[in-house]
Amino acid sequence: MAMDSDALVLFGVTGDLAHKKIFAALQMLTKRGRLDIPVIGVARRPWDDEKLAERARDGIEKFGGGVDEQAFTELTRHLRYVAGDYREEDTFTRLKKTLGDARRPAFYLAVPPSMYGVIVDQMARTRCSEGARVIVEKPFGHDLASAESLNQTLRSGFDEADIFRIDHYLGKEAVQNLLYFRFANTFLEPVWNRNYISNIQVTMAESFGVSGRGRFYEEAGAIRDVVQNHLLQIVAMLSVEPPVSADEDGVRNEKVKILKAISPISVDHVVRGQFRGYRDEDGVAPESDVETFAALRLSIESWRWEGVPIYIRTGKRLPVTATEVFVELERPPQAIFPEDAPCQSNYVRFQLSPEVTIAIGARVKSPGEAMLGKDLELEVTRQRHEDEMTAYERLLGDVLKGDTELFARQDGVEAAWRIVEPILDHPTPVYPYEPGSWGPDEASALAPPSGWHKVEVEP
Ligand code: BG6
Repeated sequence: MAMDSDALVLFGVTGDLAHKKIFAALQMLTKRGRLDIPVIGVARRPWDDEKLAERARDGIEKFGGGVDEQAFTELTRHLRYVAGDYREEDTFTRLKKTLGDARRPAFYLAVPPSMYGVIVDQMARTRCSEGARVIVEKPFGHDLASAESLNQTLRSGFDEADIFRIDHYLGKEAVQNLLYFRFANTFLEPVWNRNYISNIQVTMAESFGVSGRGRFYEEAGAIRDVVQNHLLQIVAMLSVEPPVSADEDGVRNEKVKILKAISPISVDHVVRGQFRGYRDEDGVAPESDVETFAALRLSIESWRWEGVPIYIRTGKRLPVTATEVFVELERPPQAIFPEDAPCQSNYVRFQLSPEVTIAIGARVKSPGEAMLGKDLELEVTRQRHEDEMTAYERLLGDVLKGDTELFARQDGVEAAWRIVEPILDHPTPVYPYEPGSWGPDEASALAPPSGWHKVEVEP
């Protein structure tokens, strides 16, 4: 059994990630009685413990669903602040002192990747990293080469088993449900292959724009921001083979296998778009050709998936905010009821957000003498628990326990970069689209024969 972490250190604690996500997750972990260790924030600003607590309160109020006074008071008992420059050894000497006799601290690098090297070196020099875990966030590099070099930096101070790469989609209840639903039932797996599935579509639509993150987005674009990580992880969850072992690496091994089986995307199988108005955003170049929309077609070279196209579509300023998987089944082989219209709707639909829904599209007989029917959707489940953990809460809790299952592994990260590399190296034209539309018209040329699945959100 891995030993629990006995301190959590947040580098970059004055930044956006801590403000928007981490403090709220820490409050929830405290509320559930799962965080009773020192939480030490480190950054350059000359703050103190009190100022850090104020910032945490502000973040939880604005982005974390509100302060729970009891849990928050408990959390602030653990909060410490160490001010200092990451380039100076003295910062780490003081950090080491604040860590006291912690033997298994977890270090969260909530800083730009360009700072990782400096911090990892200083931690090694001051022996802060002994016995420690390290947490980093996607994007893991901006291409294969930079991902490899980032990894070398991390590996210079930590073992692979102690590196926790957060792709927050893996912490989402609905994403885990994809795997669970597939393998906890008998009825799905027999048809979950090229014999019965005609295509799979994954749509991640967002009705908002780049929300003040223009500068970041200019470096990323939709393919680096969400396709290389979140969306390929969803594809992997939908297509993996059943794991052969129940340990932490069982599913991770299968995911890496399937990512390796996905062919690098051909430039003929991508359509990039940019919403009108993107170039006026703060931090965006006036001539920017960064994509805010991408539609792609993938194929998996495996026995199970040969010939089944997989479509991905994502974009900012689309008509809705929703992530949905649509698995279309082949039509029945024979028209047994010749008068009837052909079945249009044999499918399995997983809405991952905003609702968590699993539904099956089927054709049923309409009442009457004739053998005529209609298409119906049978909802298998719709669930969202009040008490559901956010992805960050789940993942941080797992880091503290030393459970690596829901984190990206380096071989998987590299396999995912290989898939998108051709379309990053040889950028295709970027077509403009109207905000509130489903992207540029050119994307329809890439759609499956039945067209792009229409994602709907309940009002
Ligand atoms: C982030 C991307 O990783 O995921 C954002 O950088 C995106 O651009 C976000 O909006 C979506 O996350 P969620 O959990 O809101 O679906």
